[in-house]
Amino acid sequence: DKGNHRHFMAKEIHEQPEVVGRTLAHYLDMSAGRVRLPFELPFDPAELTRITITACGTAYYAGLTAKYWLEKFARVPVEIDVASEFRYREAPLPKGGLMIVVSQSGETADTLASLRYAKEQGQHILSVVNVPTSTIARESDVAALTLAGPEIGVASTKAFTCQLAVLACLALAFGRARGVLPEAEEQRLVSNLINVPGLMAEAVKREPHIEQMAGSLAKATDVLYLGRGTSFPLALEGALKLKEISYIHAEGYAAGELKHGPIALIDESMPVIVIAPHDAVYEKTVSNMQEVSARGGRIILVADQRSADDASIAFEAVVAMTPMPSEFAPIVYAVPVQLIAYHTAVFMGKDVDQPRNLAKSVTVE
Ligand code: M6R
Repeated sequence: DKGNHRHFMAKEIHEQPEVVGRTLAHYLDMSAGRVRLPFELPFDPAELTRITITACGTAYYAGLTAKYWLEKFARVPVEIDVASEFRYREAPLPKGGLMIVVSQSGETADTLASLRYAKEQGQHILSVVNVPTSTIARESDVAALTLAGPEIGVASTKAFTCQLAVLACLALAFGRARGVLPEAEEQRLVSNLINVPGLMAEAVKREPHIEQMAGSLAKATDVLYLGRGTSFPLALEGALKLKEISYIHAEGYAAGELKHGPIALIDESMPVIVIAPHDAVYEKTVSNMQEVSARGGRIILVADQRSADDASIAFEAVVAMTPMPSEFAPIVYAVPVQLIAYHTAVFMGKDVDQPRNLAKSVTVE
């Protein structure tokens, strides 16, 4: 049932404040302002020397975001790879190590094969899954559930933001267990997480503006998506979303990589979408935007108004986000990124729920 929405994808984008809120409530002790995992861990996070993450597609980008969080908040090295590469490359894994697999369906063939390989190598397996009865959930030592509810649209939206919510909580829980996250810092971060669903609801309100931008984006044949830090995985996700449902060629890049090649593509016809919350690397991203602007590039900025004003660049458009502490910005900024893809595809008359050549669950290799 699509409710009042034209597509399942629209419904699922709009549901996010609610399902992310529900997921967070499952992993947080709201009154104490602490993380509270709804399961016992069958390993001691303090003993981990490395975590390996594997997944495919959008779930992989959730995992890539988690790498930043786990390294920063839990001070544990993280290795991550797409499952179709990981499963064949005979990676040596540390004794008693942890493998985290991320999957909405819990049935993705390459992700499952990676899980089985890691199990043979003596890893503990923690899966972040949306379908509790799935093969991946059943074969894991712990299944950390995303409470997104059934996701029907082929393009993953609410499963992604719920994966991010669970992974953020895990990073904080591991940080505490490893003795590297002071209680006051955990409480500050948890209160930031508690504000995320409300900020997502505000982000959804940017929809009319994003819808207006869609006509101009729909004319593009190529789009570049840039981000730094945790906005980098989101730039990759934004490009994937746009490709999947609008069939516009889009590429996500780490903003700092721009001058190592892709800057050659910049001209007046290619939109460059930049995700730049006001975080520690914001100033660096501003320099990258100046490089684009100096070459006549058209920049669409997704940032808070202060970031937009401070940059003193003539933007083609600004999706003005509510200012927020930056740590968990990707969960909130995912909303405009999804809406940009959605409205561009709808403007172009594409079948957003059933894009050509794609299946919801990829159970073949
Ligand atoms: O069910 P999974 O999360 O394991 O699926 C992984 C990918 O196939 C999936 O995220 C795919 O990239 C989506 N179509 C992205 O929107």
